[in-house]
Amino acid sequence: MSGRAAAYFLLYFASAFLFLSYADDSTLTPSQLLGDDDDDGGRGNLISTGGRFELGFFSPKGSSNRYIGIWYHSISDKATKVWVANGVHPVPNRSGRLFVTADGRLVLADGNSTVFWSSGNVSTVAVGAIARLQDDGNLVVKDGSDTVVWQSFDFPTDTILPGMKMGWNRTSGHNISLRAWTNESDPTPGNFVMGMDLNGVPQELVWNNMVPFWRLGPWNGQYMGGAPEVIAENLMDYAFVVNSQMFVYWYALRDPLVLARITLSSDGHIVVWAWLDEAQSWISQAEFPRDVCDYLNSTSSCGPYSLCSPTVYPTCACLEGFRPKNQKNWDLRVWSDGCVRKTELNDCRTDTVGFFRLRNAKLPDTSRATVDWSMINMDDCKALCLKDCSCMAYARANISGSGSGCIIWTHELIDMKFYNNVFGQELYLKLAARDIPSRSAYSRSRRLVLIVLVPLSAAFVLICAGGFIWYTKRRNTSEDGLTIDEGKGLELDLPLLDFSKIVDATNNFSTSNILGEGGFGLVYKLENKTKSTLLDWQTRYDIIVGIARGLLYLHHDSRFKIIHRDLKASNILLDKGMNPKISDFGMARIFGSDETEVNTRRVVGTYGYMSPEYVIDGIISVKSDIFSFGVLILEIISGQRSKTTYYSESQINLLGYAWKLWKAGEALKLVDETLGTSFPTDDVLRCIKIGLLCVQERPGDRPTMPITVKMLGGESAFIPDPKQPGFFNLKNHIDSDSSTKRSSRNNVSITLLEGR
Ligand SMILES: *[C@@H]1O[C@H](CO)[C@@H](O)[C@H](O)[C@H]1NC(C)=O
Ligand SMILES: *[C@@H]1O[C@H](CO)[C@@H](O)[C@H](O)[C@H]1NC(C)=O
Ligand SMILES: *[C@@H]1O[C@H](CO)[C@@H](O)[C@H](O)[C@H]1NC(C)=O
Ligand SMILES: *[C@@H]1O[C@H](CO)[C@@H](O)[C@H](O)[C@H]1NC(C)=O
Ligand SMILES: *[C@@H]1O[C@H](CO)[C@@H](O)[C@H](O)[C@H]1NC(C)=O
Ligand SMILES: *[C@@H]1O[C@H](CO)[C@@H](O)[C@H](O)[C@H]1NC(C)=O
Ligand SMILES: *[C@@H]1O[C@H](CO)[C@@H](O)[C@H](O)[C@H]1NC(C)=O
Ligand SMILES: *[C@@H]1O[C@H](CO)[C@@H](O)[C@H](O)[C@H]1NC(C)=O
Repeated sequence: MSGRAAAYFLLYFASAFLFLSYADDSTLTPSQLLGDDDDDGGRGNLISTGGRFELGFFSPKGSSNRYIGIWYHSISDKATKVWVANGVHPVPNRSGRLFVTADGRLVLADGNSTVFWSSGNVSTVAVGAIARLQDDGNLVVKDGSDTVVWQSFDFPTDTILPGMKMGWNRTSGHNISLRAWTNESDPTPGNFVMGMDLNGVPQELVWNNMVPFWRLGPWNGQYMGGAPEVIAENLMDYAFVVNSQMFVYWYALRDPLVLARITLSSDGHIVVWAWLDEAQSWISQAEFPRDVCDYLNSTSSCGPYSLCSPTVYPTCACLEGFRPKNQKNWDLRVWSDGCVRKTELNDCRTDTVGFFRLRNAKLPDTSRATVDWSMINMDDCKALCLKDCSCMAYARANISGSGSGCIIWTHELIDMKFYNNVFGQELYLKLAARDIPSRSAYSRSRRLVLIVLVPLSAAFVLICAGGFIWYTKRRNTSEDGLTIDEGKGLELDLPLLDFSKIVDATNNFSTSNILGEGGFGLVYKLENKTKSTLLDWQTRYDIIVGIARGLLYLHHDSRFKIIHRDLKASNILLDKGMNPKISDFGMARIFGSDETEVNTRRVVGTYGYMSPEYVIDGIISVKSDIFSFGVLILEIISGQRSKTTYYSESQINLLGYAWKLWKAGEALKLVDETLGTSFPTDDVLRCIKIGLLCVQERPGDRPTMPITVKMLGGESAFIPDPKQPGFFNLKNHIDSDSSTKRSSRNNVSITLLEGR
């Protein structure tokens, strides 16, 4: 080791004489040292030509080890590292120096010639090499004739940047995969790896300690089959190229000015991030795995020949033509045995079998499947499956355009998921003819649906709501820890508002001002005054208007359309002047300009603020934020929290109570007692009415933000009468929560400011 290091040093000193140092922020020449110490005579950090990226030494949060890494130079967040050179061998102190040898090696060593990292052996020794940090975040070493001899994009850590290729380079034999950090303070490669599984039909996988953890599935011409939601993100174009030279996957940004990246987190999740100037933070645009159905080989995984549906309970169901292998276990919700055919296909006679078309499916594991890319016609694919006695199923390999390619499964079908009617693919299952449901049976069941179920649909919706609450609770306690709906850990990690503004607003974090912990972390109460004067009518009105302006900005005036998704009292911070600031963009979604709503399987948010269409159908739109805003208005006026308040005589929540009073012409009874009678009745009534308009059951009935702001400001002569609010009857969907009590009416400011 030290012998090689000494050789590097010789090369370094020799080359120092050959190269004149020239000033270029993005370039490291053999005559320069990039040192960690201020007085080691080295040069400063590398900064890419466009100023987007920076390379230098850093210590991760909570560690004193020194690493060479690349981060964004152009934004306020410098903590996010997109690449780390010496994750395996940290430098324990500031003695590290990075240099490039004239023959094209990047070396990180200390003054005593211990080598911590090097870019390895270059097959052909380069002449006149330099290293340059490009504006796409790629650190490249080029020789004198401008040929790339090494690049960091070929050795990623936990981040794929736009333009970086993942997969297998058949020319060089090199495989590019992501390796997660051990944890946020330790870039040592951790347990999780994301890469291409080239067995059978190539698919993307995440492994945990070499064991498959979850499967993104094969590329289908548009997206990885197990992550169809990425096409709804509208930020990136994904691509996949298979030819004699390579087998690679990459993505490009639709708007080159947007900063976005994809990471593999230390718990094995893949997250698509976009930087939002408005929030001064990275916003997660998509995250996988997203539900119980995505995990391979976990206790919740459905066994072979069964279909997992994340929103239905029981989550696993046998495929058409199959029955549980072990009925007893199946009834106990132990799914691992899976299902078996009702009727065996033992004689392989083509006249006794047929195909059942399963729609909206995540295709089964393809690691033992085969693909014929040249097959264009699906009838040929069917014929191939019919002819092959061991064929279980077939599907189209490429769903884009007219479609081409034929995938054939000859082994057991595992890891299938059912998507809603937007996503997923068609899979043709080979079954004994007698197990294929006939058309007439289908139409009978359709009629049954119409005759029996439709009148019961209202009841069904309520059952779904109850089921969702139950499911959320179960999810929060499940070992898989899928989505932390109300988990503080998730939210506390996120950098939110401009730090200096918070310091200012909280009197430099004076601890006497700590009121409680909220979604943001700590929410600060401001000095002065008694509770009632703190929140007089004018203050409350100004807060409502301030939040409305903030939302107007997010929905309509910022560069992107932003849906906050988790608007609630604890996400509103008040500064010294009692000006509200919307905080915690950890769940926000960026919408494309032509998008009005998206459908998500991952319903996250805070109960009490979520609109019915979001809870039940996963539909996100500006109208779901407006519902939450309406809840906030009613909370601010009444001093009551929607979540914990109910009115025992009739089992209705705050929305129901406000609605009841409104209909009875007694809306002023809603107003917080501590306001006494010192408020302008007309203004208060107008605000209550607007609150009720915002929480109306049908999204289409709720006003948009521009109209809401106008109505609040009294600029709108006509304000329509509100219709029935969504989710106002508590009894029907929260009967299990015996701990819910009528909250006392004297905790006004706490209600507004405290965390959950
Ligand atoms: C820095 O750490 C190295 C061990 O890698 C050690 O040999 C060296 O003495 C340390 N230098 C200082 C100044 O502490
Ligand atoms: C080199 O090693 C010596 C002895 O171990 C130590 O005193 C010195 O600090 C080291 N120098 C650097 C730059 O690490
Ligand atoms: C570099 O080459 C040397 C000598 O051929 C060899 O011993 C060493 O393992 C190689 N290092 C790497 C990283 O390939
Ligand atoms: C694959 O490797 C070869 C040889 O190193 C290189 O020239 C080529 O650009 C690489 N291809 C891709 C797609 O990275
Ligand atoms: C890359 O993956 C391919 C296909 O699995 C394999 O044949 C090859 O050996 C791998 N290359 C390296 C360097 O691991
Ligand atoms: C990160 O991992 C390292 C090594 O396993 C461990 O020593 C350290 O305590 C961990 N840090 C955190 C913050 O989990
Ligand atoms: C499931 O996990 C077990 C043990 O962890 C392992 O032996 C088995 O190969 C895994 N199965 C799959 C399909 O990954
Ligand atoms: C999938 O089909 C589209 C449109 O027909 C075509 O452009 C694309 O190259 C195909 N992809 C693969 C991997 O065959």
